[in-house]
Amino acid sequence: MNNNITIMDHPLIKHKITMLRDENTGTNEFRTLVEEIAMLMGYEALRDLPTEEVRIKTPIEECMSPVISGKKMAVVPILRAGLGMVNGILALVPSAKVGHIGLYRDPVTHEPHEYYCKLPSPIEQRTILVVDPMLATGGSGSEAVDFIKQHGGKNIKFMCIIAAPEGLERLSKDHPDIQIYVGQLDRELNENAYICPGLGDAGDRIFGTK
Ligand code: PRP
Ligand code: URA
Repeated sequence: MNNNITIMDHPLIKHKITMLRDENTGTNEFRTLVEEIAMLMGYEALRDLPTEEVRIKTPIEECMSPVISGKKMAVVPILRAGLGMVNGILALVPSAKVGHIGLYRDPVTHEPHEYYCKLPSPIEQRTILVVDPMLATGGSGSEAVDFIKQHGGKNIKFMCIIAAPEGLERLSKDHPDIQIYVGQLDRELNENAYICPGLGDAGDRIFGTK
């Protein structure tokens, strides 16, 4: 497996993904689980954030101790479903800025179409975490990363909860320079480009639409 790909193996993440997949899990619980999984995965995906030593004084003595250094982070959800993951990341890095990329898959061709893009500046100096629960054909993820690069983004990470092998291969081939974090790698896509076993339509399950 490509060195830039990390598949999560933490039992808490696995457990929560199982609950997420269950068709009996309702909208409210589904939203909570997406947020919790995003936070647990974010903890892993941000383990290489640079730190620097600062001098502080404890009640006992002065010491040098690490804090996060460098330029600020940006979380960029792919609309709609990526929105469900944002608060989980903000719980870890409250100072992160939030950009948005609006893409929808054409129901017939399954090709992504852009309808919105707004990114925090200066985007080129930020660590950018793109979030979307589903990586199916990889079209939306790959196009979102293309947009961010066109706007100057350089240090890009992509985080999804469930990926199909087809989407993971496409994203890592189109963008070999980004880090990809996957909660669970599923079996395959079906004829409608849905992930099997997957969890159905992530946007509909988060927002209660159909
Ligand atoms: C879903 C999902 C991804 C995309 C994945 O969004 O949230 O963005 O499909 O599929 P792909 O890898 O084949 O591109 P969808 O287009 O259904 O829009 P929504 O979030 O507004 O429901
Ligand atoms: N988008 C989803 O929400 N689910 C899938 O299985 C594939 C694309």
